[in-house]
Amino acid sequence: MPETSTARDYNSYWQFRSDTWSRLEEASGRLAVATRRGHSTEAMRDAVSGLLDILGPIEQYWAFPGAPAFRQVRDLFSSGHVDRFARTVARINRALVTESYRTCVGWSVMDSDHEQVEDERDVADEPVAGRPYFEVLVVETLTPSQERGLREDVRNWRRPEDEFIYELVVVGSGEEAVVAARLNANIQACVVRRRFSAAAAEDLTDLVRFGDGGLAGELAECSPEERAQILARRLARLRPELDLYLMTEIAVEEIAGYVSHHFRRVFHAREGSLELHLSILAGVAARYRTPFFEALRSYSRRPTGVFHALPISQGKSIVNSHWIRDMIGFYGLEIFLAETSATGGGLDSLLDPTGPLRQAQQLAAKTFGARQTYFVTNGTSTANKIVVQALVAPGDIVLVDRNCHQSHHYGLMLSGAHVVYLDAYPLHQYSMYGAVPLREVKSKLLALRAAGKLDRVKMVMLTNCTFDGVVYDVQRVMEECLAIKPDLVFLWDEAWFAFARFHPIYRPRTAMRAARTLAERLRLPAYRAQYEQQLAAEAADDDETLLARRLVPDPARAKVRVYATQSTHKTLTSLRQGSMIHVHDQDFAQKVRESFHEAYMAHTSTSPNYQILASLDIGRRQVALEGFDLVQKQLEYAMRLRDAIDHHPLLSKYMHCLSTAELIPDEFRASGIDQPLRSGLDKMSSAWELDEFVLDPSRVSLYIGASGIDGATFKREQLMDKFGIQINKTSRNTVLFMTNIGTTRSSVAYLIEVLVNIARDLDERITEMSPGEQAAHARAVLRQTNASAPLPDFSGFHPAFLDSSDPSTPEGDVRRAFFLSYDDSCCEYVSADEVEERMASGTQVVSTTFVTPYPPGFPVLVPGQVFSREIVSFMRSLDTPEIHGYDPRIGYRVYTAKAMEMAGPHPAST
Ligand SMILES: Cc1ncc(COP(=O)(O)O)c(C=O)c1O
Repeated sequence: MPETSTARDYNSYWQFRSDTWSRLEEASGRLAVATRRGHSTEAMRDAVSGLLDILGPIEQYWAFPGAPAFRQVRDLFSSGHVDRFARTVARINRALVTESYRTCVGWSVMDSDHEQVEDERDVADEPVAGRPYFEVLVVETLTPSQERGLREDVRNWRRPEDEFIYELVVVGSGEEAVVAARLNANIQACVVRRRFSAAAAEDLTDLVRFGDGGLAGELAECSPEERAQILARRLARLRPELDLYLMTEIAVEEIAGYVSHHFRRVFHAREGSLELHLSILAGVAARYRTPFFEALRSYSRRPTGVFHALPISQGKSIVNSHWIRDMIGFYGLEIFLAETSATGGGLDSLLDPTGPLRQAQQLAAKTFGARQTYFVTNGTSTANKIVVQALVAPGDIVLVDRNCHQSHHYGLMLSGAHVVYLDAYPLHQYSMYGAVPLREVKSKLLALRAAGKLDRVKMVMLTNCTFDGVVYDVQRVMEECLAIKPDLVFLWDEAWFAFARFHPIYRPRTAMRAARTLAERLRLPAYRAQYEQQLAAEAADDDETLLARRLVPDPARAKVRVYATQSTHKTLTSLRQGSMIHVHDQDFAQKVRESFHEAYMAHTSTSPNYQILASLDIGRRQVALEGFDLVQKQLEYAMRLRDAIDHHPLLSKYMHCLSTAELIPDEFRASGIDQPLRSGLDKMSSAWELDEFVLDPSRVSLYIGASGIDGATFKREQLMDKFGIQINKTSRNTVLFMTNIGTTRSSVAYLIEVLVNIARDLDERITEMSPGEQAAHARAVLRQTNASAPLPDFSGFHPAFLDSSDPSTPEGDVRRAFFLSYDDSCCEYVSADEVEERMASGTQVVSTTFVTPYPPGFPVLVPGQVFSREIVSFMRSLDTPEIHGYDPRIGYRVYTAKAMEMAGPHPAST
């Protein structure tokens, strides 16, 4: 970042602040040296002063070094104590960079009057190593001496046996409170007192970001109690994990009765702060608690005799072995000490949890905003099958994105659903699909309604976000679908989206938050009035009008029945295969609990891996306490990665990051913002409020068409073999880089370095090419940059698998189509040429199986689906080495004409 960068160049103040402190350390160091040598220092002084001006307005939002200390630092500078100033700045910055301020609470930044102290621990007056640290926001207008008194109070309550240690951040207005909560991820609790002003004394225009604005106006007219409620709502919207406390001097008993549920507790101000102090610690302890992880850890320390299966338990089959002791060397003993199949002795049973596992799942539900949460140890592949089986009975109609993960297709086949495949919008240029337009979902529902089949429609299944990062407007999709079919169930596959809960811009587009918002909205009297008004005003209800209009559900009939499946292991901390099912279904207790239990039993191992379960529990703790911080950092790195690639002169010759406009056509972007990613989170937030689809900036699709190298080769030969960089997905001319909460600044820097190396190498090779080689390279570039065979839409089921009583609607019986192929005499193998010849002669050729090229990983054919010309030419154009369900040496497995004749049309429900 150049010296001149401003906060607007960043997406998070955290990064901006940290870079500014580092620059201040450098600048003040230079100034001190120049002053000592008697050189001219005017420009240096200006630079230092400019950096102090930048930090001035934001330092009050952090407890370290804290507003009073920062003022003292400034005073040192203004009074010309340059050496001491530079030493102090260096000391503060070192504490910030190493985060030693978290473990040495109480040391004064001004101690370094004499020699520079090398080790902060030497001056710490209260070493707290091992005790996690956090900050508490106090919202109250205080004089400096009152503020000092409050801090003193808090310090006096500290005891060595406290589990945590915290410091205070004090702000005097509601406006500043919201800014502090967004800027400072260390804040874990907030105490709202009675006296605080609505607006900040200073202009906060530069600090107010997405959605923070407008608060001062809202607060200005209200009573102190109403203000506290409004502020609590704002804070909860921004960071639902924060523990909020209300301190008031008037009738607490009364207030406690009507105060917003956002407050964890209400206190009487004059009763002293001890109870508040203990509550603050208890609030954080509740999130810190990991019942199953702790149970497993204490179990692992108990000596046990194992007369059961599992010889590896407590490492017993390994420690005495002569040949496999290196297993312990590699994994460490702890993991084996924790290997057990016990369900008692403090542990629990996954199939019927009543103890620590149940508690762990309840804590997860709270953290992820669900009503119920279930842990799954075989990934979202299994989570999806459980949800489908729990809700879908044979003959139920399910609408599903054809590009959904294979687990949906297998789940639907197993449960005997009649499947309507939805087509996502194609991106032919990059050989990838976007997401399913709402219009497509509505039109399929309306067709089913016209055919009188709406009562059989059970569920809509969509992937949010898609592999490539296309994100739905979840609430809008559900609202409009519920307007057509009020008891529809939604399964949102959030395999890639568990982290989204922890960022305020992402959160509204997650299934659980959208479900909660929708449920609240449907209960509002104002919503009912709006619905009735709209009903009276809009008489026409032909399909075209309904497709064009934004539909609103009838609040008297609509139900909120939403499920989300998340691969915790893909985006958060969990061992591989750790997934969760989150539920917000108002009919769960009455209609689903039993079938859910059966489905869970059907798909869950009776020997679940406890390590995975414990990692889900502790991974939940992490996001409950630092999800907000981690996701902000992840986004900052992802945006930096994009910028670094697109602004690099050599890289941009051969590659660029696909923008929102390239991945989401205009018709789905009402905001009209082309590059919300590049223009920072502010712009991003308006697009995220308005657009049908938005792009998750944490994923970077790199377009490499101009390099002439295809995606698979780029991944294997360039990234993996030469530089050890692992990526997951490629298309013909793109490679996908995913950032995650483990991404670091250094790993981003390494990736840039690698890409520059690849581009430099390519550049050199091209200049040294013979004319013949150059022509071949130009042809490769042309191939990569021209659109390939169009991506095929779902062609349709053979009539044998459609509903015989009314085949006008597209739902097909995949289970019948699948199991028919178990009779070998019904099947044959035919080459692609033969398929084409048969189609030319008017014969419908029908697949017996799923045919799934990997990548991209969606089935081009499903059992019972008829071949189309587009499918065959798309398959011919693929150079993917891995195609499940198709062996080019023996051809496609298809149904014989005779089998199709015999199968005939079938009744609606089987
Ligand atoms: C959209 C989607 N859903 C589900 C899954 C399966 O998840 P898991 O690997 O946790 O079984 C994947 C895997 O890549 C996926 O991409």
